[in-house]
Amino acid sequence: MSIADVRPLDDAQAAFTLGVCYYPEHWPRDRWAGYARRMRELGLTYVRIAEFAWSRMEPAEGHFDWAWLDDAVASLHAEGLHVVLCTPTATPPAWLVRAHPEILPVDAQGRVRAFGSRKHYDHASPVYRAHSRRITEAIATRYGEHPAVVGWQTDNEFGCHGTTRSYGPASRDAFRAWLAARHGTLDALNRAWGTVFWSQEYTAWDQIDPPHLTVTDPNPSHVLDFARFASDMVVEFQAEQVAILRRRSPGRWVTHNFMQLFADFDHYRAAEVLDFASWDSYPVGLLALSALPEAHKRRFARTGDPDLVGFNHDLYRNLKQSSDGLGGRAFWVMEQQCGQVNWAPSNPLPAAGAVGLWTAQAYAHGAATVSYFRWRAATVAQELMHSGLFRHDETLDRGGEEVAALEIAGRPDAAVTTPVALLHDYESLWAYDAQPHSEGARYWAQLLQYYTALRGLGLDVDVRHPDADLSRYRLVVAPALQLMDERRARRLAEAAEAGHLVVGPRTGYRTMTGRVPEDGQPGPLRDLLRVHLRNFDGLPPGLSVRAGGHAVETWAESYAPSAPATVEATYDDGPLAGQPAVVRHGAATTIGAWSPTLVAETLAARCAELGIATEPLPTGVRVARRGGIATYLNFNPEPVTLPDGTPLGPVSFELRGA
Ligand code: GAL
Repeated sequence: MSIADVRPLDDAQAAFTLGVCYYPEHWPRDRWAGYARRMRELGLTYVRIAEFAWSRMEPAEGHFDWAWLDDAVASLHAEGLHVVLCTPTATPPAWLVRAHPEILPVDAQGRVRAFGSRKHYDHASPVYRAHSRRITEAIATRYGEHPAVVGWQTDNEFGCHGTTRSYGPASRDAFRAWLAARHGTLDALNRAWGTVFWSQEYTAWDQIDPPHLTVTDPNPSHVLDFARFASDMVVEFQAEQVAILRRRSPGRWVTHNFMQLFADFDHYRAAEVLDFASWDSYPVGLLALSALPEAHKRRFARTGDPDLVGFNHDLYRNLKQSSDGLGGRAFWVMEQQCGQVNWAPSNPLPAAGAVGLWTAQAYAHGAATVSYFRWRAATVAQELMHSGLFRHDETLDRGGEEVAALEIAGRPDAAVTTPVALLHDYESLWAYDAQPHSEGARYWAQLLQYYTALRGLGLDVDVRHPDADLSRYRLVVAPALQLMDERRARRLAEAAEAGHLVVGPRTGYRTMTGRVPEDGQPGPLRDLLRVHLRNFDGLPPGLSVRAGGHAVETWAESYAPSAPATVEATYDDGPLAGQPAVVRHGAATTIGAWSPTLVAETLAARCAELGIATEPLPTGVRVARRGGIATYLNFNPEPVTLPDGTPLGPVSFELRGA
């Protein structure tokens, strides 16, 4: 078979397929042929391998051993499986670290992070960059045109284990150069950061360090620029690899497995060089580590929360746009939880049916492929408590049985299209979380409050960057855009003209360098929203106020509206009593109160005006539409009745219109 027959990118997007993450290097060669046969029998199409196998590929500098990997790829090829190969840079081997300890990352406490697990490198290190290019060149030269190899994954989960930001010499030096390029002069930097405060003014570039180990909080503009810098280092690190893969592996696609609700680098920028985005979905662990209420966590402990998962699907689908411009591009779930994980405080078994439910949910939100993590449970080392499709003893585990019974593989690709966009950007997140100002006030929490409200109304949602082309949407929701300039404000005004714009609290709080606009918030949005921020109130847990009859927790802000804006809700009590909490001006609505029910009520009213059909759904029940098919999903441990009166069993899904 030649690459012309394989058409890797088309195939990766054409129909819904299943795959698996596999580590042939963990088991004797005599197991490999049998494993490959069982993969085919299970209905799997793709197998991802080798992301952590550098020490086996290159046991000593410049000495490569490809024989084992040749055999592993051949054994998969023999069963007609498609191989996704990885650059192995998530795990620099011991010999490399000993020879070049300067590649190791340094944490915010100034401690060098040691060899012995993974991700022990600084993306800014010129030495590590050179080794990253060298090993990428080597593996891509060896396998770039192998008929079984259809695509590539760069590294593994950039930034995992808090490794985006390193505070040692490599990042420090690169940060100074980055600042000089961005700001041009120290005067400009001092102005942008407001360093006049507390005598922080710099008179030479080498006086500037990464923002850590300060006596009290570092300057938030300094923190914001360091976050931008560290993000750029990840983007550059990956782009160097992708350039090599493109040259050495023509016709194959390149993706990266991003993480769930991960924020330390700008995924929009990282995705620019990729063909499509992938992400790693661990719903049970994600909920366990979330800040959702304990009762909710217990209720959904064995399925995860549908919106935490769905948000990631809707984000990663939209990192790249389909060629017809009508929707996001089919994405992959590169690692799908199929049993228990090993990294949450407690690791419950997923409910019976959960693996099928998660797979159907991914399909319904526009995934092209769901690839399970992992083939067989590890019999050695850090992850030996983690499940796979097969148990340690090679018997098919609970998740494997569910995969064997699944009937949705092979469904044709169809785009997810929706008139509703939720705006999200990483820079606003960095600025927001640098100064939360109220316990529980976090960027993700605020964004997810709006996402959940939209999904609870039965709406499909595109998660988009605020600077994207928003012309195909009618309802644009921007819950937490902290950073605002005139250009962004103009684009939002255009988006409002096409339908309606809803903004949440803390919108337009800062300029792009992190200063407050001199005429106060919301700065450049003043004409569009016709509000001026009056006061904001950070509510500690247990202290709440009311607005328009709704409970308000965590955050409340009030406005001075200007004509012809109208007040839709005022605070009922507390220090802001009588002041506006929700203000409307034409096609734009400002919500200042942190209140899920007030948010849902306001969004439902705007949908009704716009003629966008809604279908209110109970907690844990969601619908997602792809092509003409609506998939209803029940994450609850008991049966539910859908809005049309039909029942849906516990932890199960139903495709309608198929
Ligand atoms: C992912 C990672 C995998 C594995 C898995 C365990 O974050 O990419 O290599 O560690 O978690 O759940």
